Amino acid sequence: MRPHGAARMLEVAFRYPIKMYVNALGVPPPAIIAEAHSKGILVGALTGSRRHAIKHAQAGVDVLVAAGGEAGGHCGEIATLVLVPEVIDAIRDYPHMDVLAAGGIATGRQMAACMAMGAAGAWCGSVWLTTKEAETIPTVKEKMLKASSANTVRSRSRTGKPTRQLQSAWSDAWASKEAPDPLPMPLQGILTRPVAAKVDKLAEAGHPGAKQLAAYFVGQCVGLMNSEQSVRSVVYDFMTDYAEAVERLSATVAAPAARSETGS
Ligand SMILES: Cc1cc2nc3c(=O)[nH]c(=O)nc-3n(C[C@H](O)[C@H](O)[C@H](O)COP(=O)(O)O)c2cc1C
Repeated sequence: MRPHGAARMLEVAFRYPIKMYVNALGVPPPAIIAEAHSKGILVGALTGSRRHAIKHAQAGVDVLVAAGGEAGGHCGEIATLVLVPEVIDAIRDYPHMDVLAAGGIATGRQMAACMAMGAAGAWCGSVWLTTKEAETIPTVKEKMLKASSANTVRSRSRTGKPTRQLQSAWSDAWASKEAPDPLPMPLQGILTRPVAAKVDKLAEAGHPGAKQLAAYFVGQCVGLMNSEQSVRSVVYDFMTDYAEAVERLSATVAAPAARSETGS
């Protein structure tokens, strides 16, 4: 993913009627922002801190994805509950911008909580990993369904930058005192990707050591992902849970108002 490789992929993406392009691990390059805007495509950017938010806003980004430290994959250290309002406040001078909340969101009530904080919507990654349609290999899917929210770690062992992932014999080995420091990005990924692919293949063939090593990126909301569902059913659950949460919240305002109207 050097600029040349990214440019070739974007050239293909921009040939399609896409609505939004989202950049991670840094500020989107000015030429890409300009090209996206010239085609009417919104530009988003993953944001792990107030500092990132300001840099993205100054660069002309339209949508911030404020991803807390509980998120699966590359993540910072600040929790979603703190990051979302912090990022919204940081871009107060850029009223055209919207913030999507990310990190730890696996239910409609969490989405409602983020909307209550001022987010325009939720951006989810982990929750899809245990769906019937997911790419997750069965060994890892089973581990995710059994995992609690305490069973993830933030480790540089996969890509060279901190990523939240399922704790496994792999992450334990890289965290041990004898282990070398992971290489910087992109070298660690180049080193580990073929090995991880082999581990997955062996795990699926029933190799006991490979089964212990097998893992994948996932966030702390893995503890809320306890049954394999279709994507349709996850979306339906989000909608009903969101509506119930909003009703509950509305009642907290309506009840005292109603009481004062009736004088009770
Ligand atoms: C398996 C997996 C792969 C991901 N890959 C990327 C990626 O390539 N680029 C990116 O910007 N974010 C990536 N993410 C992060 C998501 O875009 C999202 O910010 C994050 O999953 C939200 O937190 P959640 O996992 O708690 O829902 C990935 C997340 C997961 C779980």
